[in-house]
Amino acid sequence: MADYDFDVLFIGSGPGGYVGAIRAAQLGLRTACVDARETLGGTCLNVGCIPSKAMLHASEYFDAAANGAMAKMGVEVTPKLNLPSMHAQRVDAVDQLTKGIAFLFKKNKVTWLKGHASFVDAHTVAVNGQNHTAREIVIATGSSVTPLPGVEVDNAKGIVVDSTGALELAAVPKTMVVIGGGVIGLELGSVWRRLGAKVTVVEYLDQLLPGMDGDIRKEAARIFARQGMELRLSTKVTGCKVSGKKATLTIEPAAGPSTGSGPSTGSGQAESLTADCVLVSIGRRPNTQGLNLEAIGLAPNARGQIEIDGQFRTSVPGVRAIGDVVPGPMLAHKAEDEGIAVAEWIAGQIGIVNHTVIPGVVYTWPEIAGVGLTEEAAAAKGAIKVGKFPMAANSRAKTNHEPDGFVKVIADATTDRVLGVWCIASVAGTMIAEAALGMEFGATSEDIAYTCHAHPTHSEAIKEAAMAVRGKPIHM
Ligand code: FAD
Ligand code: NAI
Repeated sequence: MADYDFDVLFIGSGPGGYVGAIRAAQLGLRTACVDARETLGGTCLNVGCIPSKAMLHASEYFDAAANGAMAKMGVEVTPKLNLPSMHAQRVDAVDQLTKGIAFLFKKNKVTWLKGHASFVDAHTVAVNGQNHTAREIVIATGSSVTPLPGVEVDNAKGIVVDSTGALELAAVPKTMVVIGGGVIGLELGSVWRRLGAKVTVVEYLDQLLPGMDGDIRKEAARIFARQGMELRLSTKVTGCKVSGKKATLTIEPAAGPSTGSGPSTGSGQAESLTADCVLVSIGRRPNTQGLNLEAIGLAPNARGQIEIDGQFRTSVPGVRAIGDVVPGPMLAHKAEDEGIAVAEWIAGQIGIVNHTVIPGVVYTWPEIAGVGLTEEAAAAKGAIKVGKFPMAANSRAKTNHEPDGFVKVIADATTDRVLGVWCIASVAGTMIAEAALGMEFGATSEDIAYTCHAHPTHSEAIKEAAMAVRGKPIHM
């Protein structure tokens, strides 16, 4: 057997690569992890999940003080924004967490190689002109912003930005146009709306949040519009011109694909929209360029992703792939679980990720979360039963003045097995964990309905929605 430098080498230290590397080292493998960034943690820790949540959390406090939510509870304050401090706590959160990964690498004896990795052969990568060999190489290179032709991002100027630029704006723009009503657009659009920007969302489809349950998408649009976001659905951007400190977009009705269920707010002809800031958030694409995949004869599929089998093996022996660079939702926890599983396969164990039970959360106010099938997808597969329960009838949500949203439980009409759960609620992201656990154990709606839930909690709404699948909830 060839004498390799490492048993396994991960390219990329995002949630896929760093978690996989730590797990591999815990299992006794000689492990290395290469990343081109100065700090570990990939997109998620450096410019994604963590800094966006730091800004969402801080701006939520500002909004609660500014929009009267706190006054309603007898706390009267007039907030004053200190944006540099808000940014400083974001930078601090990122700093602490990325350093935490470096500490864990040291503790677990993972070798951290700083630099850009490219393949020499299936067991060798070059980093800064030096070759490193491994019995197995795992591509965990993640994804980057999908560019929009004609709309050139310049984060340094802060006028046309992507998600990274939108995290760091030096001043609150008076007006902001978000191109793409998906997760990033709504999260970062919410941050700047809360801090005072007039936000317009331009979305190609006739509903926000593609991939989510239809009722959730409609309710989300209603809530965001009420919060003051202007939603231009079924609308496409055809050009962008930056002049001075403003950008002017030309937009027109989209003739493209439609979900068939939402309102069209396009006016029927081309218009222009001028704003202090434009956020381009139309999706992300896998990072495969610069890896020299040609050297190992590995070609991405038509969507730019690396295809894998159930053991995360690519078509090239010795090379596996995980995370955003492979098919599936581009989510940190999905990448992490794949990191653990791939390490277990490489160590000779069995590593399982149940891809049918991957929760997704949008960290807006209220939060939006789901796991499993949408009602539309479940109904297309067979007979279903659906139970819904409004947060307005949940005692904790009502007491906290958080009446927006609902929980929906979708179950198989014959077996009663839960196929999907969707929530809009202030703490939907925390609530959805219970649904994921239940589905992982093959729960029926009856199991959830008869599970004792602490009172008063928002999670009782999941129990009541499960009761609604089979008959009637109590509090309606
Ligand atoms: P990444 O985290 O993208 O890491 C890949 C790493 O590989 C990068 O550090 C990159 O520098 C490195 N790399 C690439 N090519 C090479 C090379 N050739 N050599 C060396 N290094 C290389 N997901 C959630 O689940 N929850 C959230 O709240 C959330 N919020 C987000 C907010 C924003 C603004 C963004 C942009 C994304 C968010 N995501 C969130 C998505 C999440 O960040 C990704 O799904 C996750 O980071 C994917 O992990 P990964 O390990 O596959 O890749
Ligand atoms: P997205 O796929 O969520 O949304 C992109 C939106 O842009 C879609 O609604 C799409 O219809 C629209 N769009 C595409 N082309 C357009 C065009 N030309 N004009 C107008 N609209 C257009 O992608 P987003 O928001 O960029 O996020 C990328 C990924 O990052 C997501 O897949 C998500 O998984 C991940 N992410 C996850 C978060 C979380 O879990 N809370 C937070 C942020 C990102």
